[in-house]
Amino acid sequence: MELKKVQGLKGEVTIPGDKSISHRAVMFGSISQGLTEVTNFLQGADCLSTISCFGKLGIPIENTPEKILIHGKGLHGLSAPSEQLDAGNSGTTVRLISGILAPQPFSVTLTGDASIQKRPMKRIIEPLTQMGASIKSINGNGCAPLSITGSPLKAIHYTSRVASAQVKSAILLAGLYGDGETMVTEPYVSRNHSEIMLRHFGASVTTKDTTVSILPEPKLSGQKIEVPGDISSAAYFIAAGLLVPNSEILIKNVGINPTRDGILKVAKEMGGNITLLNVNEKQGEKVADLLVKSSSLHGITIKGEIIPTLIDELPIIAIMAAYAKGTTTIKDAAELKVKESNRIDVMVENLSAMGCDITATEDGMIVHGSAPLKGAVIDSKLDHRIAMSFAVAALCADGITEIKGSQCVNISYPAFYQDLERLTK
Ligand code: S3P
Repeated sequence: MELKKVQGLKGEVTIPGDKSISHRAVMFGSISQGLTEVTNFLQGADCLSTISCFGKLGIPIENTPEKILIHGKGLHGLSAPSEQLDAGNSGTTVRLISGILAPQPFSVTLTGDASIQKRPMKRIIEPLTQMGASIKSINGNGCAPLSITGSPLKAIHYTSRVASAQVKSAILLAGLYGDGETMVTEPYVSRNHSEIMLRHFGASVTTKDTTVSILPEPKLSGQKIEVPGDISSAAYFIAAGLLVPNSEILIKNVGINPTRDGILKVAKEMGGNITLLNVNEKQGEKVADLLVKSSSLHGITIKGEIIPTLIDELPIIAIMAAYAKGTTTIKDAAELKVKESNRIDVMVENLSAMGCDITATEDGMIVHGSAPLKGAVIDSKLDHRIAMSFAVAALCADGITEIKGSQCVNISYPAFYQDLERLTK
């Protein structure tokens, strides 16, 4: 894919469904009794992997153009799959489903693509094992493929070293099958979609500061879920609208859950002109339209408890920083190293190729605003967020930018390039 400088972005874009919420709708619908109807489901490869796994676990799921229909069979309704489960590129699928599979009365092998087989799974193996689960990393490296032998689970209070919604959710899901109240404490609050949606399905979930508790064996019943647009996908249009001169974009139907809205806070602190319109709520998730206008940005420091609320947006924030005036410092973000790629190294390598003055640190990066950048050949490492970030960087750079492996946007935003292109017309 080749992209080049544009003179302005104008118009409206409706963002596809939130990836985290789409995964959870399928998972929680599958272990609830009766029909769950999901609209605005994200038809990206990751969420389709989740559908495929629950199909193999005996849950009838109809994927129609208007909605997903999940014929849930209740907490104890899953059946043994006849083959291994394949999570593809999806960390959320592997980690959350492990919490559901650990207490089942059958054994499963769970695998995924080359990237997944390098991502750390000890972070869920350890707490689930403390609960009594039997989970083995087949290659002994703490990564997938995982062999899970169903076992009875006991409730624990787990203190996590990382603020990770995937770890928290795996434990809460296992806690549905525990022998008492299960609790998770994390260093900072991570995204809380599991808590909101589990309550909506009928679970008893309590949140106090950075601790979440869940009671076992609730009666979960099928629900209607309307998935908000994904703020992580909207982030590319927020950045593009701010960075490209003469731009005005209305980004419609964006989830602005406060555990996900760090990008809005950072963009505004950098000087971005963003207005929230039509703020409303869908099944406990806040949603709004965002009006974004070209702005002159300046560097800031990003660290601490805001990091989990924008963890997936740090690549596109680094692009904003590259075009901002002054220095942006990102700290407390070592988690970036264990995403779909090592996002610290990959951002530094590719932004350097475009002429940006950027340095990797142990837990983040330091970006010195370096506009004008020049087009370059970008290796996405098949990481969707890297490909989309550099597609935006290309819109303000001199010359041509070529993105290798550009089709990896299928993971979270299959129509990304078409939606971007429409705004240039
Ligand atoms: C996700 C949580 C985040 C995020 C990932 C999706 C989720 O991971 O990076 O893209 O759906 O729970 P961590 O919670 O492990 O940081």
